[in-house]
Amino acid sequence: MKIKVIGVVGSPHRHGNTTQLMEFALKAAEEVGAQTELVHLLDYKFSPCVGHSVCKGACLIDDDMSKRITPKVVEADGIILGTPVYFGTMAAQLKAFIDRTRVIRHNNFQLANKAFGAIAVAGRRNGGQETTLLEMILAFMRHGVVIVNNGPGTSQFGGTVWAGPQGEAKEDFFGIETVQGVGRRVAEVAKIIKAGLNALNYKPLYEFSSTQGMYKDFEKKYKLAKSAEEIEKTLDTDLIKE
Ligand SMILES: Cc1cc2nc3c(=O)[nH]c(=O)nc-3n(C[C@H](O)[C@H](O)[C@H](O)COP(=O)(O)O)c2cc1C
Repeated sequence: MKIKVIGVVGSPHRHGNTTQLMEFALKAAEEVGAQTELVHLLDYKFSPCVGHSVCKGACLIDDDMSKRITPKVVEADGIILGTPVYFGTMAAQLKAFIDRTRVIRHNNFQLANKAFGAIAVAGRRNGGQETTLLEMILAFMRHGVVIVNNGPGTSQFGGTVWAGPQGEAKEDFFGIETVQGVGRRVAEVAKIIKAGLNALNYKPLYEFSSTQGMYKDFEKKYKLAKSAEEIEKTLDTDLIKE
């Protein structure tokens, strides 16, 4: 059984710290048997989301994100996001990529059950690596991915690296271990999930509904309701019954 892990790099530097670290992560994934691909966002021309909000079907923006990046993300069994820390969060390039993945979510959660890990590198030792990891993790939770940590070495939240003022992430040996841990765990969990899905011949039940969580949906479900107050009453009664 083949598994594929992709590493998406959101740094404006082609051979900078994030790229080098992603290479460490993907090498570790390969050691667990994954095929890998580094997707550097610099190699693609795409616009940030412009909010058409018509994400059912194909994205209305016909650019490299729709044509070249999205198919790679959908095809992968494991996904790693990597970014430099900018003001305690991810670089704008990576955020633009994340926003554009909405179309994948709105077409029945095609990233559900993929293994997911993240890597953040900052100039300072405590420069926002963990806040940045959390933001990537929270964004991708909306996709229904399975989030992994970086394994038994540190069992923390992902790859956290300190590049220092000269930007030498390669000298942060401990940080590199956390990154390798992410690569290994993403590949390992991707393999287990894929084997399980195949063995069960399981089709995920995730179905996208644009009215989910809206009163319209509740009305359908709780036919008695006519007004917001009545809906709330119905919900309360239902909860009590349960
Ligand atoms: C606009 C900008 C904002 C930054 N914000 C932070 C920050 O909040 N905390 C920090 O420790 N380093 C910060 N840095 C430093 C980068 O995170 C650091 O140099 C990183 O290693 C760059 O990775 P790269 O080589 O992949 O581009 C910032 C750098 C830039 C250019």
